[in-house]
Amino acid sequence: MLRLAAFVLVGALIAQLGECAKYDYKEVLDKSMQFFRAQRSGKLPADNGIKWRGDSALNDGKEVGVDLTGGWYDAGDHMKFNFPMASATTLLAWGMNHYRQAYEYAGLWEQALDSIKWTLDYFIRCHPEENVLYGQVGIGRNDHSYWGRAEEMDFFRPSFKITKERPGSDLAGEVAAAMAAGSIAFREKNETYSKLLLQHAEQLYKFGKTYLGLYSNSITDAANFYRSYHYKDELAWAAAMLYQATEKASYLEEAKQMMNVLPQQTELSWNEKGIAAALLVYKADPSHTPSKAYITNFIDHWLYKIRYTPKGLAWRSKWSPNRYAASASLVMMVAADLGIRVDQCNKFAENQINYILGDGGRSYVIGFGHNPPKQAHHRGASCKDMPAPCNWNDHRSPLPNPQILFGGLVGGPDEYDNFVDMRSNYVQNFLGVDCNSGFQSAVAGLLKRNMQ
Ligand SMILES: *[C@@H]1O[C@H](CO)[C@@H](O)[C@H](O)[C@H]1NC(C)=O
Repeated sequence: MLRLAAFVLVGALIAQLGECAKYDYKEVLDKSMQFFRAQRSGKLPADNGIKWRGDSALNDGKEVGVDLTGGWYDAGDHMKFNFPMASATTLLAWGMNHYRQAYEYAGLWEQALDSIKWTLDYFIRCHPEENVLYGQVGIGRNDHSYWGRAEEMDFFRPSFKITKERPGSDLAGEVAAAMAAGSIAFREKNETYSKLLLQHAEQLYKFGKTYLGLYSNSITDAANFYRSYHYKDELAWAAAMLYQATEKASYLEEAKQMMNVLPQQTELSWNEKGIAAALLVYKADPSHTPSKAYITNFIDHWLYKIRYTPKGLAWRSKWSPNRYAASASLVMMVAADLGIRVDQCNKFAENQINYILGDGGRSYVIGFGHNPPKQAHHRGASCKDMPAPCNWNDHRSPLPNPQILFGGLVGGPDEYDNFVDMRSNYVQNFLGVDCNSGFQSAVAGLLKRNMQ
């Protein structure tokens, strides 16, 4: 009798363990948000919580008479590239809105709001007039020739904008989408702020669709780093997000019209938002067949057409394959939530994110799990504690980064699961706000599926 009871107990325990997630998604979510705090530019709040970071770039915008302080540094450098920065904000805010329960379950909702407010406030400052939007601070070549702390930069960082004469529909659309998504996230927390964001979002969308052009033709330095190839996808994404925020039928109508002719894209990234627009349009109107086809083509691509590494990473490119697999995972889970190929999509997402967290043989997230990366290509993290000097010698050092950039997702392996954790190996060790954004939202999606 006792033995039977023990069996039953053990059985119940095993069954429970079986339901437990393999990795602590809550911890990953928390750490990813730490990463975004480590990327902050400008005057930091007392509770920023990254001990090796301080105020920096406090003169941004001064030469044009606009306060352009704040925002996030793009990657391991100190550029402020607003196009990928806006994309990261949108992907985070969208994930927060869609998987709000997961953030609340983890006790991280307020922190997540705080996280996106940092860039939303910056974008408000970048939009001082109806048809003017700043899109970059710093010059790539100058910035990249400096290896050191953000806090000690002493070179000139000029600001660049788009205008009626030098338009940027993609940039205006993406910032509009970020602010519209932010306005949804902030609705309960602060109605005034939420409305302010929406007002900027509507103006920016109108700016973008009225004065058509690629932002990287107007802000030409950006073309060396984040060249844009199309703007209809960001405009569709902005329209669809504005529909979510306002429920104005005209936005949905415009998003549909753009989706009707949008070429198929097979990644979700800073540059390609077609699939995200398709998901929002399909959610609003499941009878819109072009959006449905767009989604199923995307799924087919990632399930059947893409190359997989032997250990199972859906491997898009040698440049940050982890980020593409992670953002595709987000797409798959949202599609599953809308009832499309539910089991396959969920399985894909779980496999990919778990690969990144350890199934691939190591963790690709700094400060998390088994054998995490120690030499991410990141200036600030490579510097010893102040007042030690920091320069190219620290870049060349064979030692681990003295600062742990918790939560940063590094690029990823080659097509055979090989990864060399060396600072100079920037192809594999690259990281940035773009890489972490889709990833964080995907982790929130997985947490949602594993809430007990
Ligand atoms: C709400 O947002 C507005 C606009 O940004 C701001 O002025 C105000 O201080 C905020 N209120 C609270 C309670 O945070």
